[in-house]
Amino acid sequence: MATKGLIQFDDWQDLYAERVGVMRTSAVRDLFAAASRSDIISLSGGMPDIRVLPLDEVSQVVSQAVLKEGIAGLQYGDTTGRLQTKRTIAQLMQDFDIALAPEEIVITTGAQQALDLLGKTFINPGDAIITEGPTYLGALQAFSAYQPTVHTVAFDEQGMRTDLLEAKLRELGPRGAKFIYTIPNFQNPGGVTMSLERRQRLLELAHEYEILIIEDDPYGRLRFDGEPVSCLRALDPNVIYLGTVSKIFAPGLRLGWIIAPAPIRQKFNMVKQGTDLCGSALCQVIVEHYFAETDWRATLAAANARYRERRDAMLAALAEFFPPEATWTHPEGGLFVWVTLPEYLDTPQMLSVALDAGVTFVPGDGCYPAGSGLGRNAMRIAFCYEEPELLREAIRRLSLVIEDRLALVRAFIAAGVL
Ligand SMILES: Cc1ncc(COP(=O)(O)O)c(C=O)c1O
Repeated sequence: MATKGLIQFDDWQDLYAERVGVMRTSAVRDLFAAASRSDIISLSGGMPDIRVLPLDEVSQVVSQAVLKEGIAGLQYGDTTGRLQTKRTIAQLMQDFDIALAPEEIVITTGAQQALDLLGKTFINPGDAIITEGPTYLGALQAFSAYQPTVHTVAFDEQGMRTDLLEAKLRELGPRGAKFIYTIPNFQNPGGVTMSLERRQRLLELAHEYEILIIEDDPYGRLRFDGEPVSCLRALDPNVIYLGTVSKIFAPGLRLGWIIAPAPIRQKFNMVKQGTDLCGSALCQVIVEHYFAETDWRATLAAANARYRERRDAMLAALAEFFPPEATWTHPEGGLFVWVTLPEYLDTPQMLSVALDAGVTFVPGDGCYPAGSGLGRNAMRIAFCYEEPELLREAIRRLSLVIEDRLALVRAFIAAGVL
């Protein structure tokens, strides 16, 4: 085995599966290490602010869950999840006008596992899939293992551009893509929400072209302005819906769910058996008791009040400090703002300078399929975790980094080089 200092050369390069070659690590995960430095203000991670959780109540829930459920929470369980957990989720979904029998739900290890299992269930190498562009980089990572061709459709403040989607579907033809993956509420990374008209049009198009829709909805309950818009699944029972407790309780539980038509659920169940036999029974028991025994709605309302204050602080700071060449989205909820800079600026390059200035963000290219060349002039900034005054300071620092780059470009233009 060849080693040099701390670097170990990879003697196993020719052994890896092809899919590993097309995968890439998450820019956000890589940034977590840097973001934990005390001098850095992080706008990169989409971490919910679980500091609002009543820890004494949560610890009671955990111990009660073990005492009341006995060894059931420590045993293997059903691959699709505990019946009582599914009942809990079915009850949560009633808030969205979705009436479900518990059997219609499959419990997963976070929505992230559902994304991977969907990729495993549906995608052959080379298959076309459609996502918003930009989209959740964790979804791109999960799907990329199955080697699809990813087509992206841009969004505006009304969500996915259904006119562009229609053009794409016409190009690909009926059943020309395996599915359309969308995050209709407070999109990650865009922060935008799809209007009801667009949702209806999306469903019409999916029907016309016989293409499945996957609705990923981790942020639906994180609304601080405006009125909720009907879920796609509430409008059409053939939509595959993904939910999670990560943003309404805690991501550490790693508990998500998938709602899908029966034949798809059967395949999904089979695929999941090979992946994990079953999810953590203990986490499921905790989730059942948390939603039954605590005032979780009040806890979530407290978190949303914080997010709203931080969203306001971020938007105000952007208006105060960012150059007129920049544009950004105005989310009514969720955790993220998407900033677009002039085409000639390069956010991946800017990141190391921003780190030196003590601020992190997610460069936009990570939110597009690898090699597409898109998003290099954009960035995702999260307002969920830092206090308002720190957000303002982060935006100020970032604006200096951008201004520095702009000054350089202006000088080149003045010298006739550009
Ligand atoms: C759009 C989207 N889907 C899925 C996930 C993964 O959620 P979970 O923590 O349930 O795995 C995230 C996490 O940030 C997300 O933003």
